[in-house]
Amino acid sequence: MLTIAVSKGRIYEEALPLLAEVGIAPIDDPKTCRKLILRTTRDDVQLVIIRATDVPTFVEYGAADLGIAGKDVLLEHGAESLYEPLDLNIARCRLMTAAHKNAPVPQGRIRVATKYVKIAQKYFASQGIQAEIIKLYGSMELAPLVGLADCIVDLVDTGNTLRANDLEPREHIMDISSRLVVNKAAMKMKNQAIATLLEQLENNMAQRG
Ligand code: ATP
Ligand code: PRP
Ligand code: MG
Repeated sequence: MLTIAVSKGRIYEEALPLLAEVGIAPIDDPKTCRKLILRTTRDDVQLVIIRATDVPTFVEYGAADLGIAGKDVLLEHGAESLYEPLDLNIARCRLMTAAHKNAPVPQGRIRVATKYVKIAQKYFASQGIQAEIIKLYGSMELAPLVGLADCIVDLVDTGNTLRANDLEPREHIMDISSRLVVNKAAMKMKNQAIATLLEQLENNMAQRG
């Protein structure tokens, strides 16, 4: 049995067509069904539905053989203990700094609100900027509006969330997409099944160009 960890929402939605191309279609729909283990049209493959930030943990411990996770989540988790063989090119966005549209470029030591504490620390250190990082779990865009922080580090796609909150994107930190990750022991023990799956996914992606 191969277990694949996927998060509900955009990664699940965008991964479904890729999985369908390799014959993996969930039998239940997580939008309507409360089951967390989904059987699929392949008897040897099941999906587990978890929070996006938990995907590296499940795969690291071998609770799932494979997982699909954003590069943001992988970097923040520190995913050295996982294989990351394939960029699936889904859930694409950018990790950026953002601030109030009228705010001057902050000088000196700055306060930054983010859920990406490690990435932010590394980024500001690389820029020679002293930053106090405030860990949040969501609604980062609120922080500059209420004086909690000078700026935020968050994901940006259309920019709608920033605009709706009178913020503007400032520095581009990195491009983000979701990756297939593999447990290291599973890569050895279930090599044939995993290698075949990887090859099929890769071929399909190459065909699309
Ligand atoms: P939760 O809802 O459990 O708090 P989450 O907000 O991290 O978790 P998602 O919004 O589904 O869950 O994000 C999952 C991944 O999708 C992120 O780690 C990131 O890589 C990518 N992502 C997040 N927001 C966007 C976006 N607006 N556009 C494109 N990709 C995104
Ligand atoms: C994500 C992210 C930003 C927003 C950026 O939030 O945290 O807030 O998308 O996308 P945009 O530039 O297209 O507006 P999400 O939609 O995942 O909501 P969440 O707060 O529930 O994570
Ligand atoms: Mg989100």
